[in-house]
Amino acid sequence: MPTPTLSPSMLTSGNSPATGAWDHGPPMATRMTSARFVGRSGQLAELEAALRDAAERRPSLALIAGESGVGKSRLVQELLDRARGDGALVLAGDCVDLGEGELPYAPLIGALRGLQRDGHPAFDALPVPLRGALGAILPGLEQDAAGPDASQASVFEALLALLEELGDERSVLLAIEDLHWADSSTRGFLSFLSRSLCDERLMLVATYRSDELHRRHPLRPLLGELARDPASRLLDLPPFTREELAEQLEGILAGTPEPALVERVWARSEGNALFAEEILAAGLDGRGRLPPTLRDALMLRVEQLSPAAREVLRWLACQTTIDHELLAEVSGLEDGELLDALREAVAAHILVASADGGYAFRHALLREVVHDDLLPGERTELHSVLARALEKRIADGAIGAHITAQAAHHWMAAGYQSAALGAAVRAAGAAERVDAYAEAHALLERALGLWQHVDNPEALIGTTRAELLLRAADAADASGDGARFEALLRSALDLLDPEREPRRVATVLLRLHYIQWELNRQDESIETIDRALALLEPFEPTSELAALLGAKARARMLQARYREAIEAGREALEVSRSVGDAAAEAQALGAMGVALATARRVDDGIAALREAHALARESGLVNYMERSSVNLADILHLAGRSDEALEIAREGLEEARELERRFTWLALLVAELEFDAGDWRAAVAAMPSERRGYWGTTLLNFRVRRIEQALGRGDDAQARVELDAAARAALDSTEPQFLAPLGAHRAELERRAGNAAAARAAIDEALDRIEFCSEDVARIAQVAAAGVRVEADEAERARDRRDEAGEGAARERAAAMADRVQMAAYDGGPVVEAQLALAQAELARAEGRREPALWETAAAAWEDLGRPYPAAYARWREAETLAAARDRDGAARAADAALEAARRLGSGWLVAEVEGLASRARLRVEGALPAEQAADEDPFGLTAREREVLALVAAGATNREIGERLHMAEKTASVHVSRILAKLDVRSRTEAAAVAHRHGLAGAALT
Ligand SMILES: Nc1ncnc2c1ncn2[C@@H]1O[C@H](COP(=O)(O)OP(=O)(O)OP(=O)(O)O)[C@@H](O)[C@H]1O
Ligand SMILES: [Mg+2]
Repeated sequence: MPTPTLSPSMLTSGNSPATGAWDHGPPMATRMTSARFVGRSGQLAELEAALRDAAERRPSLALIAGESGVGKSRLVQELLDRARGDGALVLAGDCVDLGEGELPYAPLIGALRGLQRDGHPAFDALPVPLRGALGAILPGLEQDAAGPDASQASVFEALLALLEELGDERSVLLAIEDLHWADSSTRGFLSFLSRSLCDERLMLVATYRSDELHRRHPLRPLLGELARDPASRLLDLPPFTREELAEQLEGILAGTPEPALVERVWARSEGNALFAEEILAAGLDGRGRLPPTLRDALMLRVEQLSPAAREVLRWLACQTTIDHELLAEVSGLEDGELLDALREAVAAHILVASADGGYAFRHALLREVVHDDLLPGERTELHSVLARALEKRIADGAIGAHITAQAAHHWMAAGYQSAALGAAVRAAGAAERVDAYAEAHALLERALGLWQHVDNPEALIGTTRAELLLRAADAADASGDGARFEALLRSALDLLDPEREPRRVATVLLRLHYIQWELNRQDESIETIDRALALLEPFEPTSELAALLGAKARARMLQARYREAIEAGREALEVSRSVGDAAAEAQALGAMGVALATARRVDDGIAALREAHALARESGLVNYMERSSVNLADILHLAGRSDEALEIAREGLEEARELERRFTWLALLVAELEFDAGDWRAAVAAMPSERRGYWGTTLLNFRVRRIEQALGRGDDAQARVELDAAARAALDSTEPQFLAPLGAHRAELERRAGNAAAARAAIDEALDRIEFCSEDVARIAQVAAAGVRVEADEAERARDRRDEAGEGAARERAAAMADRVQMAAYDGGPVVEAQLALAQAELARAEGRREPALWETAAAAWEDLGRPYPAAYARWREAETLAAARDRDGAARAADAALEAARRLGSGWLVAEVEGLASRARLRVEGALPAEQAADEDPFGLTAREREVLALVAAGATNREIGERLHMAEKTASVHVSRILAKLDVRSRTEAAAVAHRHGLAGAALT
C-alpha cells in the first residue's frame, strides 16, 4: 500500500498554495470537492421544468437513479439551491440505512424538523385533529386532541394537508434522498402522495441507488407505481464523460490538470465523481499503485486519521444519527479530545457537522466502508454499548419510536438475543402507537424468530407465543399483508386449545374466515366459520356467537344464497339481542336487510335496514350508521323509489355533519342519486372534496361518479382520463358495483368515438369478470344493455357500408346481449325492467326494424322511475325512428321533449345529437326550457363559473373551500366572489347567499 504523502490538514478547503509535497509536482489539491458544478445540464433542465410545473400548480415528481457516488446528491443540492433562489420552500430529508427500515417516516421527519423548530405558522393553520396526527410522528409538536396515537391514514392526510398549506404561500420542493433505504411508512406515504396530488404547488424529488435494488427490493413496487404516474420524470444519472471528469479535476485542483493525470483518474474511476475525488484526496494524483476499488480508496483516507478520530468514526458507523452527548458518553473520550477528533475528521472531509449539532459521514459510502471494516467482536461491542446507552435514555423517559427501534437494532446487531427480543417487542409497541404497522410487523416477526433462542421468553416479555403471533397477525393485517396475516393466525390457532378457550379460538377463526373470503377462497372460508360455530353452539349465547352468525349471514348473502343468509341473520339477531350486543345486532340486521331486499323482499329488507340504522344511531355506532344509510338508499334506488333514497341519503349526511364526520360513501351516493334524478349541478356539488386522498374502493367509487358526470355532459376527453385511471385501480377488483359501470361507461365512450372493437372488448371483459364472481343480475343487465347499444350502432354502420357479414355479426351479438338483459329482468325489479325496455328498442335498431313504440315504452319506463337522462336518450331515438317513418309531427314532438330534457340536464352531446337530427330531418323543435327556469338561468348575467361559486357561497363556503372544490387558487375564488357581489349588487356574502336562495341559484349545499 502506498504511503500517503498528504496530511489531512492540507486537504481542507482553504486556498493554501502548493507546497511541493508532491514528488511529481502536479497542481496541488486545494479542496476535496469541485466547487464548480460539472455537467448535468440536461438533467437540470428537466428538473427545473418540473419545478416550474409545480409553481403552476401542476404537482410533479422526479426520480433520480444512479450508482453510488455518481453525483445524485450533488445534483439535488444544485436543484435545491436554484429553487431557494427562486423563492421556493425547500424541505430535505434522508433515508437512513437501518437494515429493515424500522424508523417510520425518518426522512419526512428530517425534512420537517427545521420548520417545526422554527414554529412555522403552517402547523397552527392545520385543523386540530390533523395537528394531533402530525404530533404522533413529530415529537415536540404540541399534541392537542389526537394524542400520540394516530392512524396511518390520518398521518398521511396530515402530512398532505401540511404540504398543501405550505404550498399556499410558495412552491414547495420536497427532496428525499436514498429512497432505497426508505422505511415502509415513508414508501406508503409517497405512494399516497402521488395518488392524492392534484393542484398543490409541490415538487417531490427523490434519489436512489440503482445498484442497490435487487429483484425483491421493497422499493421496486413503489418505483413502478411512481413511474406510471404521468406527473413523474425519471432521470438516470450516468457517470461523467472524460471531458466532464477533466472539468471536475480542474475544479478540485484549481488549475488545469495534466492530460496524463486525467487519463489515469479516468481509467480507474470510470467517471464516478466520488471515486475521482477519493483518488485525488488519498494523495495519489493517480500515479503509482492505485487503490483497486472505491472502497480501498476510502479506507486509505480513514487510515490516515489519528486514533481518536478513528474511534469517533467507529461509533458513527454504527449509529448514523448521533448527537454530541451520546457520542461523548459511549466513546469515553474527554471533551477536548473528542472535539479535536471531530474537528480532524471534518477537516479531512470524512465527517460533516449537521445543522442540528450532530455529526454524520460526508458520504454514506464512507460509513459503510468503516462499518464493514470493523472486526466482528468489535462490532458486537460497539452495538451493545450503544444499545445500553439508548436503553438508559429510554429508562429516563425518552420513548419515541425511533429510539426504541434503534435500541432493538443495536441489540440485534450485537447478537444479544434476549435483550433483542425484549427491545423488538417494545419497539413494535412504539411503532404500533403511530400506526406504522409494517414496521411493527417486521419487528414482531423478528421477535418471533428470536423466541426459540431465548430462555424463558414468556417471562421475559410477559406474553405467550400465541399472543405474540396474534399481535404480529394484527400488524400484518393492518399493513395489508393478507397472506402473512392468514399464516400467523393459523400458527396461533395451532397453539390455542379449543377445549379450554373456545371463545378465543372462535374469535381467531372468525378473522380467518374474513381473510379467506377476501383471498377469494369462499368454500374454505365457510368451512372455517362452521368450525367456529361448532365450538360455541353447545354453550350459552355470547356476542362472539352473534358475530359468527352475522358473518355467516353476510357470506351467504354475498353468495346470493338468500334463504340461508336470512336464516343465519335471524339467528344472529336473536343471539345478539339476548346478550345485548348492539354492534352485533346492527350487523345482523344489515346483512339480513340486504339479503331480503336482493331476494326481492324489498319492504322487509328496508324495514330491517331502517331498524339497523335506528339502532346504530341510538348506540352511537357511527360506522354502522353510514353503512345502513348507504345500503338503505341503494336498495330504495334500485327498487325505483329514488325520492325516498335521496331523502335517506341526505338525512345521513345531515347526521354526519352533526357528528362532524365525513361520510364519503354517502356523499358519493348522493352524487349518484342526484345524477340519476337529473339534477346534475347538485350531483357535482355533492361530490366530496377531491383534495382528500382516496384509495381502494373509495377511490374507485369516486372515479365512477366523475366518469358518469363527464360522459353525461359529453366531456369525453375528461371521461377517458378518468376511465384510464380507474381501470388501473380496478385491475384486481371483483366487485360488480365497480366493474359494471366501468365496463358500460368505457363501452359508451368508445361507441361515441366509433371504436367498435374497443367498445366490444370492454363489454366482454366486464361481463366475464362480473359473471365469474357473482350473480348480480342488475349489474349484468347494465353492462349487457350497454352492449346492445354498441351493436345497434355497429349494425347500422355495417348496413350503410352494405357489409352483410358485419351486420349479421352485430345483430347476432345484439340478440345475445338482449337475451342477457331479459334473463336478468326476470327477477330484477323496476330498474332492470327499464333497462330491458331500452335493450329491446336497441335490438330493433340493430335489426333495422323501425319500431317507435319500443322507444316510447322505454322512455316512459325511465320517466316513471324519475330518471330523465336515459328517458331523453330514448326520446331522441324515438324521434329518429318516427322521422324515418315520415311521421314528422310525432318526430318533432319527441325531439322537442328530448332536447328540452337534454338542455335541462346539461348533456351537451345529446343536445348536439338531437339538434343534428332536427336539422337533417327539418323538424321544427324548440326544446325550450320552461319560462321560469329560462328566466332564472341568468337573471344577473352571471357566468357558469360564477354560478358555481355562488352556490358554494350560499352554502357558507370560505374562499379557501371554494378554491378547493372548484380547483382554483384561493385568490381566484376571492376575485370571483367580489365580481359576484358586484353583479348581485350586494355588499356581503350573507346578502349574496340570501339573493341566491331567493332566486334558486343556491344549488345543493356543501357536503
Ligand atoms: N456535477 C458535479 N460537479 C462537481 N462535483 C460533483 C458533481 N457530482 C458529484 N460531485 C461530487 O462527487 C461526490 C459524490 O457525489 P454524490 O455524493 O452526489 O454521489 P451520490 O450519487 O449521491 O452517491 P450515493 O449514492 O453514495 O449517495 C461529491 O463529493 C460531489 O460533490
Ligand atoms: Mg447521495
